Amino acid sequence: MNELTWVAVALTPDLPAGVAIPARVGSEDVAVWRAASGAVRIWGDRCPHRGMRLSHGFVRGETLACIYHGWRYGLDGGCAHIPAHPALEPPKTITARVFGCVEAGGVIFGTLDPEAPPPAAPEGLVPLRSVEIGAAAGVVQARLMPGEAGLMWSGDLALLVQPVGEDTCRAHALIPPGTDPKAASRALEALRRTCEED
Ligand code: FES
Repeated sequence: MNELTWVAVALTPDLPAGVAIPARVGSEDVAVWRAASGAVRIWGDRCPHRGMRLSHGFVRGETLACIYHGWRYGLDGGCAHIPAHPALEPPKTITARVFGCVEAGGVIFGTLDPEAPPPAAPEGLVPLRSVEIGAAAGVVQARLMPGEAGLMWSGDLALLVQPVGEDTCRAHALIPPGTDPKAASRALEALRRTCEED
């Protein structure tokens, strides 16, 4: 995987159709959302109108509507509708900041680099869940065994660890098919607690 280029922002089950969530790509806050059709987009988490977080918005069909004044943005990031001026065709210059986005192997990846080749997605694994860990990504990674495609392993858990802040990270966990998801979830919680106590 292009670890420095692509960042795992969420697992596929984290983002059902019609949902928007916050995440980070590098140092950038982003909104990740899934349209009714299933299409996923990653945008800068800032409405072009007055800067409200787009991750607080709501999905309407194939658009994401800002929660503040209801401006709607289409899949290409362009403003599609301004409720206060319903007859106005919004200028093409009003657009969300669009990040590269690929969903593969049960993981949603984002990138700042428009030229980036596709990420190497995990193969043959099942998404388990994502957890926030109150420890630096390096502290978590120090407890894991490096594997392929940017994955790091702890027992049956395959993890993609994403820094969120200096002392916080997000771990997206996948497991081999046939692994008991409850036992894997307990192992993930135990890992989280251990890392936070370090
Ligand atoms: S701040 Fe988003 S519509 Fe006004």
